[in-house]
Amino acid sequence: MPLISDQTIQDVLANTDIVDLIGETVSLSKQGKSYFGLCPFHNEKTPSFSVEPERKTFHCFGCGEKGDAISFVQKTRNMSFVEAVETLADRANMNLDFSAHKTDDPNARLYGINQDALNFYKLYLSNTKQGQTALDYLHKRGIEDDIIQTFDLGLAPGEYDLLTKTLTDRDVLVSDLYDLGLTKQSKTDQYYDLFRNRIIIPIKDEKGNTVAFSGRVYLDKDESQAKYINSPQTKIFTKSNVLYNLNNARAAIEQTKRVVLFEGYMDVIAAHRAGIAESVASMGTSLTREQVRLIKKHTDHLIICYDGDPAGIEATSRAINLIQNEQMNVEIVLLPDRLDPDDYITKYGKDKLKQFIDNNRMDSIAFRYYKNNMDIDFTKMLDIERFKKTVFDLIKNTSHTIIETYIRRLATDTKLSIESIRQDFEQYTKRNIEPIGKRTVKQLPIDSKYVKADRFVLNYFLADYKYVVDFNGEFGMFYISDMVRDLRMIIEDMYFAIPDDQPKTVALADFTAQLTDEQRAFFEHKVKYKDQIVEQDEYMDFKDVLNEYLRTIQYQKWNEEIKVAPTIEEKIKLAEYRDLKLKEDNRWTKKR
Ligand code: CTP
Ligand code: MN
Repeated sequence: MPLISDQTIQDVLANTDIVDLIGETVSLSKQGKSYFGLCPFHNEKTPSFSVEPERKTFHCFGCGEKGDAISFVQKTRNMSFVEAVETLADRANMNLDFSAHKTDDPNARLYGINQDALNFYKLYLSNTKQGQTALDYLHKRGIEDDIIQTFDLGLAPGEYDLLTKTLTDRDVLVSDLYDLGLTKQSKTDQYYDLFRNRIIIPIKDEKGNTVAFSGRVYLDKDESQAKYINSPQTKIFTKSNVLYNLNNARAAIEQTKRVVLFEGYMDVIAAHRAGIAESVASMGTSLTREQVRLIKKHTDHLIICYDGDPAGIEATSRAINLIQNEQMNVEIVLLPDRLDPDDYITKYGKDKLKQFIDNNRMDSIAFRYYKNNMDIDFTKMLDIERFKKTVFDLIKNTSHTIIETYIRRLATDTKLSIESIRQDFEQYTKRNIEPIGKRTVKQLPIDSKYVKADRFVLNYFLADYKYVVDFNGEFGMFYISDMVRDLRMIIEDMYFAIPDDQPKTVALADFTAQLTDEQRAFFEHKVKYKDQIVEQDEYMDFKDVLNEYLRTIQYQKWNEEIKVAPTIEEKIKLAEYRDLKLKEDNRWTKKR
């Protein structure tokens, strides 16, 4: 197969305005000769992604991703090189034909064998006595013949090697069956079938090629066995790169502009019966980035509907992070009474599932609120305090309306007054929001020990991610100087850009490389980085100092509030609240 000529590639690049192209997905603003925006390849709050129109390249200073228009299209749209060049050529109305550069899929032979196996399983389901038993099982679960057709279900016979024998008789190589995981080899070198006595669910890739199978037990006698067994990883199947039913769902996704994500095969089948055809499943394992990107090619609206049990809720929480990292919109549906979609239909009927999903979608904040709320013992002060902080963190960077809504909800749930929650929120988010109107608090004369602590903790953040986690947990986005805040953001963005499965470490040089001259001078002279950090104790001391600062500020602010409160009752309530908090504070200090 001939490669695309260099000349063609140069022409395509020359005819592509890279700022225009990238501007379609990233909002860019001009600075000098470059354009800057938020990097589409990692999550960040301040733009470090630049496009250089003269050189026709892009580069992210945060995550290091770089390239030209072709690689940008490849990466953001999950395309091969040839497909990306073709896309750009079409975009530039160049009228070129790339068909000579596209291969027939090298895996076509393996797909063909899987298709043969699937045909065998389907015939076995529809034409045998055992098949009748399996059909009875499916019908009892509400899976009628049309659904069996749609999902191409089959049946693996109970015999030791019937599939292997049948296919090898038709000149399929046993080594291919082995490579596909359909055939296994015993200790005595006998070949036998992986799937026996199981209902077969084919797993297809986006294009509809059968890449793997799953087999579910259906006989009572097999109940003690694993409910499902799946094809192993093969040349054409990596579980984490495939979403069950994406091929079938594509048309419905185009139409509804959304995807509903379930945990398992039976959930997808149930949802389809309920009229939710835009449904896919992550097949029991936790959702992966590759799977999210598969969805993103079709829509950026994803609804998670995992099982309503604790495991499902945990899995939902992890999935949300992943999906938001890909800049997609996520909504969550929690089914009641720990039901899964299939149980839900059995219990309430199939029309109700669609209704429930359409009417009970939460956004990620509502879901997190709900999830945290579940674990709270509202008789415990410390639990309430922790819950409040969690919620404040959730909402602090959102709109006024959202903040107001959750402050009210918090007040209801904690049985505290709206006003006190509001005060706590302002207190907690600190200098992020200016104190409103008349409630101005005199700035505390800044004692150098506070300022020092504010700066020095940065050393710990750089040295070990655990300090970032610990500090954020205790202080949220609290800082004294704006300069410290900016440096902290940079450090946190660097950690944030590191995928979870990689060590969370940042190199000092990478950090300083991102600083402005002013920031670098501040860092070198005021923060005084030490290579060898110091002990835990010093860090604890810094935290104590910062807590002291917060208490002083807080006390002053409360008194201010009390002074301006309109009624005596209000004054008394606020004073009581202040005293309660102070008592709690003593508890804290004693504990340390
Ligand atoms: N799974 C698996 N192997 C298992 C159990 C589960 O691969 N031994 C995967 C399957 O993809 C399954 C999903 O995890 O669909 C969810 O598991 P579960 O909820 O137990 O299965 P359901 O699909 O709900 O199947 P059923 O309703 O028949 O129990
Ligand atoms: Mn289930």
